[in-house]
Amino acid sequence: MYYFAGDFDDKNLFSQLKDFLDKVDRDHSTHGNHLYYLATSANYFGPIVEQLSAVGLMEEKNQQWRRVIIEKPFGHDLESARALNKQLLRVAGEKQIYRIDHYLGKETVQNILALRFANGIFEPIWNRRYIDHIQISVSETVGVEQRGSYYDQAGTLRDMVPNHIMQLISLTAMEPPVSFHADAVRDEQAKILHAIQPLSAEDVLSRTIRGQYGEGFIGGERVPAYRGEDGVPEDSKTETFVAMKLSIDNWRWADVPFYLRTGKRMPARHTHIVIQFRRAPLVLFRDTPVDTLMPNQMVLHIQPEEGISLRFAAKVPGPSMRLGAVDMSFQYQDYFGSQASTGYERLLHDCMIGDATLFQRADMVEAGWCVVSPALDVWKALPPRNFPNYAAGTWGPKEADDLLERDGRHWRNAEK
Ligand code: BG6
Repeated sequence: MYYFAGDFDDKNLFSQLKDFLDKVDRDHSTHGNHLYYLATSANYFGPIVEQLSAVGLMEEKNQQWRRVIIEKPFGHDLESARALNKQLLRVAGEKQIYRIDHYLGKETVQNILALRFANGIFEPIWNRRYIDHIQISVSETVGVEQRGSYYDQAGTLRDMVPNHIMQLISLTAMEPPVSFHADAVRDEQAKILHAIQPLSAEDVLSRTIRGQYGEGFIGGERVPAYRGEDGVPEDSKTETFVAMKLSIDNWRWADVPFYLRTGKRMPARHTHIVIQFRRAPLVLFRDTPVDTLMPNQMVLHIQPEEGISLRFAAKVPGPSMRLGAVDMSFQYQDYFGSQASTGYERLLHDCMIGDATLFQRADMVEAGWCVVSPALDVWKALPPRNFPNYAAGTWGPKEADDLLERDGRHWRNAEK
């Protein structure tokens, strides 16, 4: 392991790096294979790859490979993401560019495909005939930690939705790919992203909710308001919570709402996908004490709980017909033990072996931005007047509950 320090703005740096890498290649017979991992400030992504290319460090000859991993944020809106793609693709091939999203490295996220396509019982009911709606919640208890100044520029919508949440939506909703070949999988994911119905300005007002936390309590401890965090202006209008209702305009999902929400300083850290099935008809139970049937829910617990549960009704033992909700539950650790993993291990390894399945293609990143663009535009034009509008340690603003309740539905909250 070597450490080679330098300033990205220094034009000589890259030719020095080339000499340095040439020597390392010779000394260790590494065949000139290079993986550049750009976990830098986003404004350097383009310039660094250009400089690498200018000194020949992106050139693949004699069967050597040269790959570059680009961290997030990949642009800050559709236009800047397109510009960055263009800039990178001028000097590198798409096959050399690995746009990373650490959510795809999570076992529980990869398992969505196994659950759906390695089992005969789920796929036949995975559609509008049987599914009432889908909820995706990514709740975090942390605030903005030491990243106040980055976060205040980005906000939750940019930070979580076009990337992590779009991965969860596309894997949950996509058609079966014909193989695990990188492009076979990514083509199907991209189709879903393109099928998400674009929000009109009116839709943004009625189907998207933004929030910012005020002070409150997390785990019994008082925590400051977002506006009191380091690096955040006192009058910040940046959102720390987002909820949205999206529709996927295709045969499988017509009229099945996808509700999503994500926020900082919520009561529990939990990411889950809830598949809510249609209710059974009440007819049979009309003359019993049962006045409503609860819908079945399958919950894919992504983290920190890792598992899958299925909720259904069972008769409560006793002389009369009463129903209770019970859960069938699978926990990863019961079967496979638990292994600490951030998701990055798998992704870095995949990049080294040249498997791009779990990385974002240019069109997917752009499609993710297309989904959130209308909200970014409308929110910018109409700054929020009611921030902060939820207390730290709560499930976000009341409007986020109303978003489902007016459709006769409710968020399923993780237990604290
Ligand atoms: C990052 C976001 O991409 O993902 C953070 O920038 C967020 O704001 C994090 O906290 C969540 O990752 P994980 O793996 O903890 O869910």
